[in-house]
Amino acid sequence: MQSKNLYFEPLTAVHADALFPILTTPSVLAFIDPTGETPSLEELRAEYTARARGPVNLTTPDEKWFNVAIYLKADSPIAIGRLEATSYGEWGEIAYLLGEAWWGKGLAFEAMTWWHDYLETLVPETQWWATVHPANQRSIQLLMRLKYEEIDPSRRPNLQSYDSGDLCFVLPSKRSC
Ligand SMILES: CC(C)(COP(=O)(O)OP(=O)(O)OC[C@H]1O[C@@H](n2cnc3c(N)ncnc32)[C@H](O)[C@@H]1OP(=O)(O)O)[C@@H](O)C(=O)NCCC(=O)NCCS
Repeated sequence: MQSKNLYFEPLTAVHADALFPILTTPSVLAFIDPTGETPSLEELRAEYTARARGPVNLTTPDEKWFNVAIYLKADSPIAIGRLEATSYGEWGEIAYLLGEAWWGKGLAFEAMTWWHDYLETLVPETQWWATVHPANQRSIQLLMRLKYEEIDPSRRPNLQSYDSGDLCFVLPSKRSC
């Protein structure tokens, strides 16, 4: 599982050690943790364990979780972030986090381009949705570069990642919602 500059591994608790220092910084959590609390390493391990196990109480019978750690190719590969997606049949939600040191290099765009292609092999023709804090300009720009379009959140009332005031984006597909 790789792209030009990156490779990807299914996310497990093992990745928490490498990702903890880079994904629990104030800059990374600024728009994704409304509680403002920084998780501990143990909490991150538990979260990644749960992500690897998959859904216990299904939102829909078709619910599937996909999570990968992102590595920068190098003689000594470096963990730089992670990608997530939840599919519910014909639609799903995606998200992405990179450590701040790797912002502004086009690596999130490269990772997400690969992620959409990979997910297409697993859950074909899924229509992907994303919710974003309105001040998260980097995330909004990334979605626009990926050709997502802003849409009224009321078009998909059961978005799990939606917090009040979030902007909502969808990647248009042949299938209408
Ligand atoms: C959201 C996030 C992934 C965006 O990362 P990013 O690095 O800005 O995204 P991209 O990969 O699209 O990179 C775009 C930047 O790389 C630059 N770039 C350099 N080389 C590039 C290339 N070959 N191709 C594309 N862009 C390139 C672009 O010019 C742009 O620069 P700018 O930031 O100065 O405008 C990152 O900010 C993040 O992880 N934030 C914290 C977590 C978060 O909020 N996640 C979203 C929850 S909804």
